[in-house]
Amino acid sequence: MSARKIIIDTDPGQDDAVAVLLALASPEDISVLGITCVAGNVPLDLTARNARMVCELAGKTDIPVFAGCDRPIAGALITAEHVHGRTGLDGPDLPMPKMPLRDRHAVDFIIDTLRTNPPGTVTLCALGPLTNLATAFEKAPDIVERVQEIVLMGGAYFEVGNITPAAEFNIHVDPEAAAKVFSAGMSLVVMPLDVTHKALVTRGRNDAIRALATPVAIAVAEMTDFFERFDKAKYGSEGAPLHDPCVIAYLLRPDLFSGRHVNVEIETVSPLTRGMTVADWWGVTDRAPNALFVGDLDANGFFALLTERLSRY
Ligand code: BDR
Ligand code: CA
Repeated sequence: MSARKIIIDTDPGQDDAVAVLLALASPEDISVLGITCVAGNVPLDLTARNARMVCELAGKTDIPVFAGCDRPIAGALITAEHVHGRTGLDGPDLPMPKMPLRDRHAVDFIIDTLRTNPPGTVTLCALGPLTNLATAFEKAPDIVERVQEIVLMGGAYFEVGNITPAAEFNIHVDPEAAAKVFSAGMSLVVMPLDVTHKALVTRGRNDAIRALATPVAIAVAEMTDFFERFDKAKYGSEGAPLHDPCVIAYLLRPDLFSGRHVNVEIETVSPLTRGMTVADWWGVTDRAPNALFVGDLDANGFFALLTERLSRY
């Protein structure tokens, strides 16, 4: 089977970086057509810089990287330096990138790529706020039916929220964009906090990555060392949740994940619950299912996959 074509839409972020490294280590399974950056964890200039640093770390300087939307559809940008550090990629000491940003807006790259590839052959992997995707669908509604699938990290049901008591960060930053994507009618796979909080980088798992002793592996271990202090203090957990790599791991090994096809609606109005993903997990409404909402994973299988793929660098 030929490699699945994807666009990675991202706001790196240490866990975004690990997701990109996982994808770029898997060329027989995944063909990364481009990386589109969005404002989220840190402002756009930093996410667009960080994405290129990660490509250079991976030795993949030919991957086109595009800058996209610098703010949500409505309201001011909310960032997460308290989690990811001032640069968004605190931890390893990576060199400034030499590879240039491509001279095109990320939204136009998404539109052109979907229009020029056969319908149903390009998957969108969203690791940050959904602003770029929603803007592309708004600007070019014809591309919606050409998307093979959207696999995204965002939302929560049982875990409720991480940036507010009721909302997960990616959805809370741009609820209007999320509402547009969730109601667009295309095949949607959602990795909420319910599953990503089970993908914990414990000390043993991080040591196994560090023991690979390559520049990539050491950088990943250092990213996780930095990233985990926040979650360990907040949740008392054994390590940091590797949120965004769940999206790429799902493409590589969907058998590691399980969930339910349910209806998911986005709260955009209430100041108290703005960005909440209201998932009908128990089927108590007659609203039609619009997403595979993932709830569980084989964490040991996930880390075995990640460690094996990182060993390829
Ligand atoms: C999500 O928010 C960001 O901080 C992470 O990169 C991840 O995409 C988790 O809520
Ligand atoms: Ca992210």
